[in-house]
Amino acid sequence: MSMDVPSGVRRAAESLDDVPAYVYDLAGLARHAAAVRAALAGTELCYAVKANPDPEVLRALAPYADGFEVSSGGEFEHVRALLPDARLSFGGPGKTGAELALTPSAHRWHVESPAELRRLRGPADVLLRVNLDVPVTGAALAMGGGATPFGMDPDGVAECLALLGRPTPADAASGGLSERLPGGRGALRLRGVHAHLASGLAAPDLLTLAEAVLAYGRSLGLREFNLGGGMAVSYTRPEERFDWAAYGAGLRALARPGETLRVEPGRALTAYCGWYLTTVLDVKRVHGERFAVLSGGTHHLRTPVTKGHDQPFAVLPRSEDGEHGPVTLVGRLCTPKDVFSRRVPAALAVGDVVAFAMAGAYAWNISHHDFLMHPKPEFHYLR
Ligand SMILES: Cc1ncc(COP(=O)(O)O)c(C=O)c1O
Repeated sequence: MSMDVPSGVRRAAESLDDVPAYVYDLAGLARHAAAVRAALAGTELCYAVKANPDPEVLRALAPYADGFEVSSGGEFEHVRALLPDARLSFGGPGKTGAELALTPSAHRWHVESPAELRRLRGPADVLLRVNLDVPVTGAALAMGGGATPFGMDPDGVAECLALLGRPTPADAASGGLSERLPGGRGALRLRGVHAHLASGLAAPDLLTLAEAVLAYGRSLGLREFNLGGGMAVSYTRPEERFDWAAYGAGLRALARPGETLRVEPGRALTAYCGWYLTTVLDVKRVHGERFAVLSGGTHHLRTPVTKGHDQPFAVLPRSEDGEHGPVTLVGRLCTPKDVFSRRVPAALAVGDVVAFAMAGAYAWNISHHDFLMHPKPEFHYLR
């Protein structure tokens, strides 16, 4: 696998010992975010913090982001402390009482159910998260388009509209609004709809979903739309990138005057800036198959296990001894699931550095760090 390894990553590899390291290319991240921002002109760009909440990553993104999407009180407090002036959208399928009390300081509150709306006291600017019954094809993960715990179907949205004192078609038929929120409608301002129907989609597929969400929101008389994240990232063909230019142009064509369109990507913003470096501790053949055992493991980089792919990598050799051929790269956890890449062609020897690419999103922060109590990686930042 030939990967273009930034010179700063190579420099970090030179001094690497058996403690693995994460290297974040913040300069590359800033360039990428600036390009995405330019491509999406006219659409607000928020970053889904769950993809990577590293403080340096958030600081590097801040100049290019209109806001941040957080999905827990922990993420909320983390971003608030780091970037006090940032606009925060608060989402997530289950919210505790302590989290609901944060509404006054959130820019937008993504309501997931009528029961959540009944518990909200506000003041809050609310988007209703809708799960439309639209076909979601080609997605890596589907959060919508059928029965899932994320958001509401149109019946749930209609119930929320009634609670907020907005007339629905059912009200018209029955001659009036049946229910009201105890706090009154003034405390909760309905701003629009939110939808994150799937992750891992190409621009044309995301635009098709956007069209459906816009049509639905407009039918309710709403003019603000958060269209979610979910822009595709290919780990098997890293050179293939999401077509931000086509997506931005498509959104501009769909938007009507006076409407606010917002997106909240995670993976496609930060995946490419992260590298995970680890040394080769052992190379061996077992029942005819070659394995390289690394000083790190998927307790630091769980992405290939959760997504079931081969994590792309480059070998940074430290000797001429590397033997060519297919090899399975494994960590040193006592589980057969601790695999980064299977039977991939590579030349490597004990002592070489393996630099895993695309480790900047859903990587360190989703991994089970304490399993086996190995040392934590070091973190380096290229500026
Ligand atoms: C509500 C919401 N918004 C945004 C995202 C970011 O998605 P992605 O990282 O695929 O862009 C997620 C991911 O699960 C999400 O649940």
